[in-house]
Amino acid sequence: MDVRGLWVGFFLFCSFLIGGFCDQEGFLSISCGGTTSYVDSLNISWVTDGEYVSTGNISSSSSVPIRVFPDSQGRKCYRLPVNNVSSSVLVRAQFQYKNYDGLGKPPAFSVSLGTAITSTINLTANDPWTEEFVWPVSKDTLSFCLLAIPDGGSPVISSLEVRPLPQGAYASGMEDFPNKSLRKSYRINCGYPNGSLRYPLDPYDRIWGADQNFTPYHVSAGFKIQRRFSLSSIKEDPPAPVLHTARVLARRKVLTYNLPLDSLGDYYIVLYFAGILPVSPSFDVVINGDVVQSNYTVKLSEVGALYFTRKEIKSLNITLKSISYYPQVNAIEVYKIVDIPSEASSTTVSALQVIQQSTGLDLGWQDDPCSPSPWDHIGCEGSIVTSLELSDINLRSMSPTFGDLLDLKTLDLHNTSLTGEIQNLGSLQQLENLNLSFNQLTSFGSELENLVSLKILDLKNNSIQGIVPDSLGELVDLYLLNLENNKLQGTLPQSLNKETLEIRASGNLCLSFSTMTCNDFSSNPSIETPQVTIFPKKKHTGPNHVAIIAGAAAGAILALLFISLTAFLLIKKKRTEVTYVSRAATEMRNWNAAKVFSYKEIKASTNNFKEVIGRGSFGSVYLGKLPDGKLVAVKVRFDKSQLGVDSFINEVYLLSRIRHQNLVCLEGFCQESKQQILVYEYLPGGSLTDHLYGANSKKTSLSWIRRLKIAVDAAKGLDYLHNGNEPRIIHRDVKCSNILLDKEMNAKVCDFGLSKQITQADATHVTTVVKGTAGYLDPEYYSTQQLTEKSDVYSFGVVLLELICGREPLSHSGTPDSFNLVLWAKPYLQAGAFEIVDESIMGTFEVESVRKAALIAVRSVDRDASQRPTIAEVLAELKEAYSIQLSYLASCEYSN
Ligand SMILES: *[C@@H]1O[C@H](CO)[C@@H](O)[C@H](O)[C@H]1NC(C)=O
Ligand SMILES: *[C@@H]1O[C@H](CO)[C@@H](O)[C@H](O)[C@H]1NC(C)=O
Ligand SMILES: *[C@@H]1O[C@H](CO)[C@@H](O)[C@H](O)[C@H]1NC(C)=O
Ligand SMILES: *[C@@H]1O[C@H](CO)[C@@H](O)[C@H](O)[C@H]1NC(C)=O
Ligand SMILES: *[C@@H]1O[C@H](CO)[C@@H](O)[C@H](O)[C@H]1NC(C)=O
Ligand SMILES: *[C@@H]1O[C@H](CO)[C@@H](O)[C@H](O)[C@H]1NC(C)=O
Ligand SMILES: *[C@@H]1O[C@H](CO)[C@@H](O)[C@H](O)[C@H]1NC(C)=O
Ligand SMILES: *[C@@H]1O[C@H](CO)[C@@H](O)[C@H](O)[C@H]1NC(C)=O
Ligand SMILES: *[C@@H]1O[C@H](CO)[C@@H](O)[C@H](O)[C@H]1NC(C)=O
Repeated sequence: MDVRGLWVGFFLFCSFLIGGFCDQEGFLSISCGGTTSYVDSLNISWVTDGEYVSTGNISSSSSVPIRVFPDSQGRKCYRLPVNNVSSSVLVRAQFQYKNYDGLGKPPAFSVSLGTAITSTINLTANDPWTEEFVWPVSKDTLSFCLLAIPDGGSPVISSLEVRPLPQGAYASGMEDFPNKSLRKSYRINCGYPNGSLRYPLDPYDRIWGADQNFTPYHVSAGFKIQRRFSLSSIKEDPPAPVLHTARVLARRKVLTYNLPLDSLGDYYIVLYFAGILPVSPSFDVVINGDVVQSNYTVKLSEVGALYFTRKEIKSLNITLKSISYYPQVNAIEVYKIVDIPSEASSTTVSALQVIQQSTGLDLGWQDDPCSPSPWDHIGCEGSIVTSLELSDINLRSMSPTFGDLLDLKTLDLHNTSLTGEIQNLGSLQQLENLNLSFNQLTSFGSELENLVSLKILDLKNNSIQGIVPDSLGELVDLYLLNLENNKLQGTLPQSLNKETLEIRASGNLCLSFSTMTCNDFSSNPSIETPQVTIFPKKKHTGPNHVAIIAGAAAGAILALLFISLTAFLLIKKKRTEVTYVSRAATEMRNWNAAKVFSYKEIKASTNNFKEVIGRGSFGSVYLGKLPDGKLVAVKVRFDKSQLGVDSFINEVYLLSRIRHQNLVCLEGFCQESKQQILVYEYLPGGSLTDHLYGANSKKTSLSWIRRLKIAVDAAKGLDYLHNGNEPRIIHRDVKCSNILLDKEMNAKVCDFGLSKQITQADATHVTTVVKGTAGYLDPEYYSTQQLTEKSDVYSFGVVLLELICGREPLSHSGTPDSFNLVLWAKPYLQAGAFEIVDESIMGTFEVESVRKAALIAVRSVDRDASQRPTIAEVLAELKEAYSIQLSYLASCEYSN
């Protein structure tokens, strides 16, 4: 039977049996710059691109239609609808120059997909140029953008194709690289030299390239294929015609593919093997000199695949060393792993859009502010917008949306026609540099004192009146205060630290640290009179004041000052109390023991956010002390998924009801002017991570019995979240650093809630954007994005393995085989080979106790979630392991 015959047969088979896959469902084929729709020789329907792009010019002088982007500014984007039936899509783009403009200058430019910069296209090197990506779908549209590079010429594109991929494809083996895109380097139909193969033979329309590295030692269609393969176990669903050919070295022991890579990076490799020979060969798989799989056996008429990742490589050498019969491989795929920067928070994006609108200008702000490259006027750190610089435009007022840009470190709004008081910035706790110069601001407002990180405050050339507020002295990091050319007067507050703070005050009515120097002003009639008062809002009362002050004794002034100050403080205090009471009354719910804190109280209790005791994805944790002396951990959220007030209150309400001895207890919260702060009990013992791997201060040698006790405690906490509570709660980020210890070394789980809880009692899973920590992430959750309690069980299994082996889930030292704790430890523990148990507990445990713990740990990290035990079962087993070890220790004592 010849291969072509087979293909036709397959095609018919496909048309009849899998019809659905052959009908181009979800295919989108865009002819960029094309003017008519058409169907090509493969029966693929092409459409024109007008619906997907809004800029660029069509070139009529090129052989195939192309779209050109002559304007070199900004990103030029196609918006591709990506079908949500699939977890990932293939995006293929083709670029062609072919001297359409007669200038003989092929362009170079870069392209981005979503937030990721994916590659540089250089049409001098190759024309046409094809790029292919595998993209994990997380939204219903995906931007594909072209970005001009300096002196690169005008970007051009000729076609774009989107193809849905099989569910869960290209995720196996990628657990340590969550949330990445793949850029194709090679897809080789091994053993087939006569051109490439694609749709309809591959219903997903991947293009399988010819085996150019072809050597005489190959077998392709020489064997009669009697049996149909079972492909079900392979998520990538490679097409049968690709598997029907193989590269086989019948007379040699070693088969090598040397694949040059065009850049240094992390790569993903998939090897396919099909039992098309009448024998079952076995061989070692060696990649760049490392044995990555020993004694792999190709089973008769079965298809298998191996998945590998390699870090920081720039060439690839795949070698199969035969053990029995011949080395053989049927297909190879190699992808570069491309980082997908996370998106900026939606709060930030919508705030910026509102600001763009208020300028009345089109600033070209589209898609994500930070990635693939920051917008004009915006600066980012990762996916976080940290600076905004708008000047010489008309903003007029500072809208409340500025207060949503919580992570700003620099805000420059000079010369933007701002008027009135400085407002709506109180929530910008990270702000270090605020430039509001050259505006028409008239008052300091009341929020500056909240900008606790402020270092530079530039208010020069405004019309600010009155005196400088005392509260500026609270800004301990402030080192430059520019007040030049305003209408300020009076003494500068004593609270300002003259040693660390440079104050520029020239060009005001009368401003100095001493009350006396202002007296001279009476002699200069052209200047308005100074006014000594500490009420900023008190009306200006006219020139008579000079006489009063000039005539009064210094002692009288001081007395006046003192009285006013006292009055002011009293009024201020009262106002705070009033708002606190009314807020508490309006939001009155049963908060159980949780207390509603005001921001002022939080500030006081943390000594102005002085001591950071932790940082997480959500923000920072500060040590605090309540008035009653109780120590607390204060979490200030600046999560990108900052919740709306309602959802925050709801979540806190939920959290406040959860009371369990093995869960860290919520003491209270603060929700005030964009602040979302949670106050937890403080656990002085640190985290399990500190004890297992910490620096000397916290690291202790935990005995086996102590480890079991901690495991039992934590399992109890999780069991309560999963089963003791309605709604059920999935933790989503179980790991050693989220298990904290109190003075007596009792363990408590923290950081639960403010995540997706399951709301309906009958829901079996929730579909979410994958969240978690590399090394602890459930591979099934990662590939299906369906979250169940079993994902927590997996992560907890990893914690158990850490307790047993005393090593971290991912380890960059040691051999590649031992990189991933789960993969490394599982075979040893399954085999009862306890030489991998943490050295520091060797010889101090009852083997049966470790065996029980190891077994339940191994079951918990089963790839198949349905095979994993529930947390209740885990708890039961751990309790047994604990009591076995207890009686062992008791008997030791006895015999001593
Ligand atoms: C071509 O594709 C269309 C759907 O796009 C399908 O209905 C038709 O049967 C196909 N024709 C052939 C010859 O495959
Ligand atoms: C591109 O098209 C715009 C109008 O859409 C036109 O003004 C411009 O001249 C064109 N540029 C080129 C190089 O053809
Ligand atoms: C895709 O998502 C949209 C809304 O997000 C939904 O209405 C539609 O039914 C989904 N399509 C499929 C095939 O799941
Ligand atoms: C494009 O490729 C050519 C030749 O391969 C090279 O000389 C040129 O520097 C490359 N341009 C860029 C921008 O990489
Ligand atoms: C490739 O083409 C040559 C000649 O066209 C043919 O003899 C050979 O059988 C083909 N190989 C395969 C694997 O189809
Ligand atoms: C390789 O594996 C096969 C089957 O799994 C086994 O029969 C054989 O003994 C193994 N060979 C070596 C050298 O380990
Ligand atoms: C690749 O492996 C083969 C066989 O082990 C070896 O001969 C060759 O030198 C290797 N090439 C590179 C570039 O490492
Ligand atoms: C993955 O990337 C998406 C898109 O940028 C982002 O929304 C999501 O938070 C990321 N998830 C993880 C686990 O990093
Ligand atoms: C302020 O912006 C205007 C344009 O809006 C410009 O003419 C003026 O020179 C700018 N002033 C300063 C001080 O930068």
